[in-house]
Amino acid sequence: MDRRNFIKNTFLATGVVLGSGIIIPEIAKAKESKIPLYGPDLETTFGRKHTPYVKAPKQVKAGEWFDVYVEVGYYHPHPNLMTHWIESVALWIGQYEVAKATFRATQGAPKATFTIKIDNKGETTLKGLGYCNLHGLWVSKPINIKVV
Ligand SMILES: [Fe+2]
Repeated sequence: MDRRNFIKNTFLATGVVLGSGIIIPEIAKAKESKIPLYGPDLETTFGRKHTPYVKAPKQVKAGEWFDVYVEVGYYHPHPNLMTHWIESVALWIGQYEVAKATFRATQGAPKATFTIKIDNKGETTLKGLGYCNLHGLWVSKPINIKVV
C-alpha cells in the first residue's frame, strides 16, 4: 500500500468512527494530553520556525476527496538535525486529528499533503499541528472552509 492510499484508508476508518459519534482512543489521548500547545506565532523568528503553514481549498464538496498541505518551516526554515527536528505534522478538523505524518531526523522534510474528505455540509475549521522534539507542539492559524 503506498503512502497516499494509506492516508486515505486511515482517514476513511477515522471518518466512519467520527460519523458515529464514538471517540477513538487517539482523540481521548490528545484531549487528556498535558503537552502545551503553542502558536500560531508569526511575529518572532522562533515562532515562524515552528508555526505550521496550511494550504486548503476555501470551498469543497461534501463527500469528495481534496488535498490539504501542511508544512513546518514554510515561514522560516526549522533545523533538521539529529538533536533538533520536527517529528511530525498533523491535520485537525475541529478538535479531531484526521491525519498525521512522522519524520526521521535529518532525512524527513516536515511537510505532507493529506487527502481527506468531509461528509457534513457547513463551515468547518482546519488546523495544522507540528511537533518539534525540543520546542513542543505548535498549531497553525485556523483555516475556515465551506463544505457544500
Ligand atoms: Fe524546534
